[in-house]
Amino acid sequence: MRAVVCPAYGAPDVLEIRDVPIPEPRAGEVRIRVIATTAHVGDARIRRADPFAARLKYGLLRPHPGLILGLELAGVVDAVGGGVSTFAPGDEVMAFCGFDLGGNAEYRCLSVAGGNAEKSGAVVRKPGSFGFDEAAALPTGAVTALKNLQKARLGAGQSILINGASGSLGTYAIQLAKHLGAEVTAVCSGRNRELVEGLGADAVIDYTTQDFTRLGPRFDVVYDAVGLSTPRTSRGLLRPGGTLVRNRGLGRITHENVADVAALADEGVLRPVIDRVLPLDDVAEAHRYVDTARKRGSVVLTL
Ligand SMILES: NC(=O)c1ccc[n+]([C@@H]2O[C@H](COP(=O)([O-])OP(=O)(O)OC[C@H]3O[C@@H](n4cnc5c(N)ncnc54)[C@H](OP(=O)(O)O)[C@@H]3O)[C@@H](O)[C@H]2O)c1
Repeated sequence: MRAVVCPAYGAPDVLEIRDVPIPEPRAGEVRIRVIATTAHVGDARIRRADPFAARLKYGLLRPHPGLILGLELAGVVDAVGGGVSTFAPGDEVMAFCGFDLGGNAEYRCLSVAGGNAEKSGAVVRKPGSFGFDEAAALPTGAVTALKNLQKARLGAGQSILINGASGSLGTYAIQLAKHLGAEVTAVCSGRNRELVEGLGADAVIDYTTQDFTRLGPRFDVVYDAVGLSTPRTSRGLLRPGGTLVRNRGLGRITHENVADVAALADEGVLRPVIDRVLPLDDVAEAHRYVDTARKRGSVVLTL
């Protein structure tokens, strides 16, 4: 099968598509024929060994041979291992692949046991109204945004400022915050104003013409989804008792988290923003674009 491997750390051109054996599902696993996956910022950061500590997991001098990129995927179950009764061949699913990755490939075997998704991944049914492109883009960003808003205990009637509102995390955070009944101020550049308004933002600050850090202490929650402001400036935007949330890596992701965002998608609360869709063969081009930090929502790779 074709898979995206990363034989060295560095620029997108290090990525290669290689032929590797199709994995066999073990007991408790399903094998998914991947139809769509993403070029995720997390994949790009592993490729760059950013932060340096990524080398402790993925290989000190170069990535371990056999490392296949791809944090998330959507596809169809094509085989099941022993003891699996919850899924059958033909089921349409989406998955968070866990930190051993492997979504950027024609097939991926993942456990359906639940529990620690970082190690074994999390497979759930594809939201019925989603195409495979949309489903592939949901698991990681939506879970991260949901967990961050939960951490902030955002509730109805509160106000939130979301910095980096047009990225993957930002676009999910707007939808989730509106669903929770909050008033949303989105920070993005002018070209993304219509996008964030369409997702429900009540007010938009164009960071290229206005310094949002001077808005004063008006918000119950500040979510710096893009991680570019300093904690000091962000805290200046908070009312007394307000909460600042910043991304700390991907955080701990469980099977339940992925099931929660699938349920929210089924309810019509969440819909991914897809910036562009490229064939798997163009993975280096996809990474070059992700590295610009200009993407709106997600970059999808199709097989
Ligand atoms: N996506 C995930 O699942 C995930 C999970 C955990 C952690 N993270 C981390 O979270 C951060 C955001 O990731 P992401 O995938 O949402 O998007 P991203 O690719 O890092 O950011 C893209 C968006 O950021 C906007 N942006 C760029 N510079 C900005 C600035 N100075 N102020 C405000 N917005 C700016 C861009 O819009 P303009 O072109 O309009 O500027 C673009 O829409 C990254 O550091 C990533 O490593 C992401």
